[in-house]
Amino acid sequence: MKTLSIIMSLFLIGSGAVFAGTSDHKHVGHTMSPEMKKQHETMTTIVKQWQACKNALKDNNFKDADLAVETIIEAAADIDSFRLHKNADKQEQFAKQCNVFRENILKLKDEIKRKDADAANNLSTKVEESCKQCHSTFRK
Ligand code: HEC
Repeated sequence: MKTLSIIMSLFLIGSGAVFAGTSDHKHVGHTMSPEMKKQHETMTTIVKQWQACKNALKDNNFKDADLAVETIIEAAADIDSFRLHKNADKQEQFAKQCNVFRENILKLKDEIKRKDADAANNLSTKVEESCKQCHSTFRK
């Protein structure tokens, strides 16, 4: 529940006009199943917090980088259960990609904790590689 409320507040606080339009729910599309909506929200959180993390690292702001990474870790907990639209038969490979991503994010968190800017930047590059690697097979 805590995770959910954190994610929800991030949507409300952030630039997420798409989700923050509380008076107008048209973006919560009637054609989107709850499952798809969740999936989209998860990826939106990851994308947004990843940007926040990179910006924080640029400023050597380890506190904000840590907060962003923590939110990514929470959001990424259930990416294994994504319903795939491309290469849906390669669930095992997808699970592997999820793990590579999460491992890199956890390592990045360690370096942020240690306030090691160089190591954090190297891992940041690795994380992005794991975004791209997964997309190359599983994103339309
Ligand atoms: C384990 C696989 C995987 C990883 C890792 C991953 N993505 Fe994705 N991403 C996907 C899939 C699959 C989709 C398409 C979702 C769909 O088909 O509904 C997607 C969609 C997206 C989209 C399009 C928006 C959307 O909601 O569909 C963006 C932008 C994106 N990812 C950015 C990132 C970034 C940035 C990272 C790394 C920080 C990342 N992704 C990590 C699998 C992944």
